[in-house]
Amino acid sequence: MKYNIALVPGDGIGPEVVEAAVKVLEVTGEKFGHEFCFTKYLAGGAAYDACGEPLPQETIDGCLAADSVLFGSVGGPKWDGVPREKRPEQAVLGLRKALGLYTNLRPAKIEPALADACVLRPDIAAKGFDLMIVRELTGGIYFGERGRNEAGDAAYDTESYSVAEIERVARRGFEAARKRKGHLTSIDKSNVLETSRLWRETVHRLGESEYTDVRLDDMLVDNAAMQLIRDPSFFDVVLTSNMFGDILSDEASQVTGSIGLLASASLGDSASGLYEPIHGSAPDIAGKDIANPIATILSAAMMLRYSFDLGEEADYIEKAVSDVLSDGWRTADIKSPDAEEWLSGSQMRDKILEYMK
Ligand code: IPM
Ligand code: MN
Repeated sequence: MKYNIALVPGDGIGPEVVEAAVKVLEVTGEKFGHEFCFTKYLAGGAAYDACGEPLPQETIDGCLAADSVLFGSVGGPKWDGVPREKRPEQAVLGLRKALGLYTNLRPAKIEPALADACVLRPDIAAKGFDLMIVRELTGGIYFGERGRNEAGDAAYDTESYSVAEIERVARRGFEAARKRKGHLTSIDKSNVLETSRLWRETVHRLGESEYTDVRLDDMLVDNAAMQLIRDPSFFDVVLTSNMFGDILSDEASQVTGSIGLLASASLGDSASGLYEPIHGSAPDIAGKDIANPIATILSAAMMLRYSFDLGEEADYIEKAVSDVLSDGWRTADIKSPDAEEWLSGSQMRDKILEYMK
């Protein structure tokens, strides 16, 4: 089969990690007899510099036409002074909206080989954890009405959710739970927010009518922030609104101690999706061949699994990565503090390719 993949490398370390993932996809294609065709598009600060727009129409059209999108990262201090609607972040928000990607899957787990990188107390880390945040991605306060009053001394942003918006992402959450341990924790702030009360009611109605096989519980977002540190092994699938998921997913990824390993998928109703590492553009290390390419390589594996239904191929990449890690190979971000040698980004990429032979 032939698959057309749009590449949106973006800024900072984006281009180098995307390039590593492309190599991994090429080798996978050769091995399993698939043809992956890549077309590159500009987004973020790179696009702003080239044409004054963070998300050119050509990029939107190319991504819409492709079978799937592999995204690097956008942003950096260089564009701090740019007006809000032209900021590099608008590229990722605009793409999510244009492609209708209302669900964001963000897995976070302790890699057994990397348990010592986990920042939690050893007795908590020893219990391990493996959770998946299912975050709503095209609604809520990110896309609500916002503005300032005339005097400019007051501002507002609006959180708003419809039942339909809550239901479609909640279904993704229930379905993810079915494929995992069958436990869904829905996050809200229903002791204060009306949107959260609607969220909770809607999730329960769906759970009681269609997903009685899934164990459903609710947790207030502040408590969830605490439980992620106190006992992350409690969680299986965590369902959140856009903003709560933004915050909790950064927390969950940092708790693993290896943000350079974490992948994500953004999905809508079509098979196409957008796959990106959770980490940012890390401009301070860009171009130095230090960045860990694993998160993007694992994002490419998620693409094979979720968009192309190539589970065996995805397993194959994931196994190579986990074998490399269990054999002790490390990049700078995941090495132990007293290690004297570690791999550069391109050496890690080559090591993974070697394990894929
Ligand atoms: C993320 C990022 C984005 C978000 C930014 C870059 C707009 O933080 O993917 O989590 O807040 O969604
Ligand atoms: Mn974020």
